[in-house]
Formats: sequence, C-alpha cells, structure tokens
Amino acid sequence: MLRRMLFSAIVVCAAAAPSWAGEGDVQRGGAYALAMCSSCHSVAADETASPNPAAKPFRSVKLADLPGGLVAWFNTDHPNTGRILKDAQGEDIAALVASLAKQ
Ligand code: HEC
Repeated sequence: MLRRMLFSAIVVCAAAAPSWAGEGDVQRGGAYALAMCSSCHSVAADETASPNPAAKPFRSVKLADLPGGLVAWFNTDHPNTGRILKDAQGEDIAALVASLAKQ
C-alpha cells in the first residue's frame, strides 16, 4: 500500500513539472531585455528602430547565427556590455528573440 502511494506521488510530481522547464520564458525574457538590452536594441515586435543604430533590433536577430548560442556569444563577443549574462537570463531572452522572429 505504502509503496503504491509513493509511486502515485512520484507520477503526480512528474506530471506537474512545467512543460517549459529548461526552456526560456518569453515574459521574463522581455523584462530582462527591457532592463539590460533596450538602451541599445529595439526589443519589441513592432518596427521600432534601435536606439543604437549599430545594434540590430531583436526581431531581426537569428539565434542560429550566434556560435554557441546567445549566452556564450554575448559573454564573449558582444561589444561594450561586459560578461553579465547568466544562463537562465540568456535562455529567457533567447525565448523572447525566438518569439519575435515568429511574428
Ligand atoms: C551598449 C549598447 C548595447 C547593449 C546594452 C546591448 N547591446 Fe547587443 N549589440 C550592440 C551592438 C553595437 C551590436 C553590434 C555588434 C557587431 O555587429 O559587432 C550588438 C549586437 C548584438 C547581437 C548580435 C546580432 C547579430 O545577429 O549580429 C545580439 C544577439 C545582441 N547584441 C544581444 C544583446 C543582448 C541579449 C543584450 C542585453 C542582455 C544586449 N545585446 C545589450 C550594443 C548593445
């Protein structure tokens, strides 16, 4: 009996795990992008130009073009920002960028 209850509990926990676990969250990505990136990049889905003309609007960024992914690229090759991006923040921002590209 106990064993059976334990088994059910494990199944319930597994089913309750959010399906987006391990992927970025678009809403949080938007908040990070606004706070950390929008002084130079347009981070919106509309046609807003970037404040810094040298910085691409996020809606035209292609994640596949960034060797090693967004976080690795940002923390090595990105100009003038320091190595400030944490993995989880980068996943969220990447989710945002991917969602903009779909529109
Ligand atoms: C101080 C201004 C500034 C800030 C802040 C900034 N960027 Fe940039 N970013 C640039 C510039 C300038 C470039 C163009 C660099 C180049 O072409 O070599 C760039 C390029 C990029 C690119 C490459 C685009 C491509 O496809 O070539 C990505 C991705 C990017 N930035 C992401 C970010 C993210 C994510 C943040 C916030 C966490 C951020 N940037 C914050 C100025 C900025």
